[in-house]
Amino acid sequence: MESSKTHFGFKQVDREKKAGLVKEIFSGVAKKYDLMNDLMSGGIHRVWKNKMVEEITFANSEFWLDKKSTRSEQSERMCDLPLIKGDGGLVKVIDLAGGTGDVAFRIAKKFRADGQKFLIDVVDINQEMLDVGKARAVDLNLFSDLKFTCCDGEKLSFADETFDFFTIAFGIRNFTNIDLALSEAYRVLKPNGKFICLEFSKVNDYFLQKIYDAYSFKIIPKIGEVVLNDRASYQYLVESIRKFPPQNEFKKMIETAGFKNVSYKNLSFGAATIHIGIK
Ligand SMILES: C[S@@+](CC[C@H](N)C(=O)[O-])C[C@H]1O[C@@H](n2cnc3c(N)ncnc32)[C@H](O)[C@@H]1O
Repeated sequence: MESSKTHFGFKQVDREKKAGLVKEIFSGVAKKYDLMNDLMSGGIHRVWKNKMVEEITFANSEFWLDKKSTRSEQSERMCDLPLIKGDGGLVKVIDLAGGTGDVAFRIAKKFRADGQKFLIDVVDINQEMLDVGKARAVDLNLFSDLKFTCCDGEKLSFADETFDFFTIAFGIRNFTNIDLALSEAYRVLKPNGKFICLEFSKVNDYFLQKIYDAYSFKIIPKIGEVVLNDRASYQYLVESIRKFPPQNEFKKMIETAGFKNVSYKNLSFGAATIHIGIK
C-alpha cells in the first residue's frame, strides 16, 4: 500500500499536502526566479538548457548512432528512431513544469531559425510562474507560438498521442508521484515521440561532490536569504535535489513507464543529467 507520507526536501509531509507546498515555494520566487537561477548557477543552467534543446532531433539525426556500436546494431536502432521529421508540418511540443518559459523560448528560437512550424504548450501547476513567462514571451515576440496552461503534470489535460516532443527541466523532482508524471508523459506523446528530461542528479566524483555539497547547503540558501529574503525555499531546493533518484534509478523509472531506447548524458560531472526515451 502507498504510504500516506512523502518527502518535501528532507521533511516528511502528508502526500496530499506536497503539491500545495511546492506551489507556495514557486509563487514566492516567481518574479525573481530567472535572476536567482543565474546567481546560483553562475549562468551554467543556460548551458545545460541549451544542451537539452540540442536533443530536439528528428528521424534523420545522427544522435542515436554512437561511434561504439557496429553497423548492424546501428541499423537496428534506426528502426526505433522517432519518425517525427518536420517536413514543413507542425511539430508539437509540451514543456511541462515550464515555469517562466526559459526552455520553451530556447526551443522556439531553434525552430524559428530552422524555419520549422511548431507549437509549444508551456504547462505548469503554478499560475504566477506562467504569468512571468507570458510577459517574457511578449517581450521576446514569441507569444504567438506558445500556449500557457496551468495544469498538474500528474493529470494532464491533453489527449493521448498529442505531442512529438515532451520536455521537462528541473521540474520532475518536485512532483509527488513521479511514476504518474512519467506515465502521463508516455500517454500524451505520439508513437516514436521523444521524452527529454533535464534534472539535477548525482555528481560522480567524490571530491567534487564534497565541494558541491558545501556550496549547496552553505551558499545557496544564503543567496535566497539575501536576494529574496527567503532562505527556506532555497533550502528546499537543495534538499529536493538530494532526494531525487540517481541516474540509473531514474532511467529504470523511465523504462517502467514504457519508454524504449532510454539513455542519459551527464552534464558537469552529473550535477545535472539529460534523460531521454522514445515512445
Ligand atoms: C525549478 S522550476 C523549473 C522551471 C523551468 N522548467 C526552468 O527550467 O526554468 C520547477 C517548476 O515545476 C513546477 N511544478 C512543480 N510541480 C508540478 C506539477 N505537479 N505539475 C506541473 N508543474 C509543476 C513548478 O511550479 C515550477 O514552475
